[in-house]
Amino acid sequence: MYADRPARKAWTVPMLADAKREGRRLVMLTAYDASFARTLDEAGVDLILVGDSLGMVVQGHQSTLPVSVDDIVYHTACAARGTSSALLIADLPFQADATPERALDASVRCLQAGAGMVKLEGAGHKLDVIRFLVEREIPVCAHLGLTPQSVLRMGGYKVQGRDERAAAILRADAAEVTQAGASLLVLECVPSSVAAAITSSVSIPTIGIGAGVDCDGQVLVLHDLLGINSGHRRPKFVRDFLADGGSIAGAVRAFADAVRAGRFPDAEHSYG
Ligand code: KIV
Repeated sequence: MYADRPARKAWTVPMLADAKREGRRLVMLTAYDASFARTLDEAGVDLILVGDSLGMVVQGHQSTLPVSVDDIVYHTACAARGTSSALLIADLPFQADATPERALDASVRCLQAGAGMVKLEGAGHKLDVIRFLVEREIPVCAHLGLTPQSVLRMGGYKVQGRDERAAAILRADAAEVTQAGASLLVLECVPSSVAAAITSSVSIPTIGIGAGVDCDGQVLVLHDLLGINSGHRRPKFVRDFLADGGSIAGAVRAFADAVRAGRFPDAEHSYG
């Protein structure tokens, strides 16, 4: 299959910093199984995230809190079988990163299942966790802003960093996760101006979801990109690309093209 297509170079962690330096926007989507991972990989998606969003869009829960390490490891192994060029990132689920030692155990299982990086939410005591993992050769993607594992504390899925004090905390957290050794930073549901300021101040690529067009890349949950009703309220930043793309592969390519051209997200899909 696709013998006429030149093989793409497989993504490595150092290539992320190159992409930021060269101003190449990164395209990231979630996938939880081999077939969708293969579809994304063949469409040229750079980063595939086995997100704990699987708890909501695959398992049908109301939040990501019930997702276990076993769930993430299982879906990472499935997605890895369909991935050849993209960098596969596994999400550490709720409390799997509560201590550095727990995070190391879970991360080793994710890497042995085929991931090339793990993602974890938050700063604060997670800075020690990031440092501990990075010192032990585990690449880390940080995640700030709306961190869905904090849904109980936050009282819902709400835009973060709206006032100057909250924005300053976000900027400081972004600097600290970078300092701790993260290679990538997801910014979820923050005003575009705050995400833009963070993006220009940190050396690692930022990946936005509801964080405006000035991030170094964009991510969406695959089910949202395809307009699948997963039984949850559709956030403002979601756009159904299946309507543009005409097929699943077409929708993925339409998203990738729009991200790389800086056409997505527009103001309608961002927070001011
Ligand atoms: O779990 C997930 O899919 C995520 C993305 C929304 C960034 O964390």
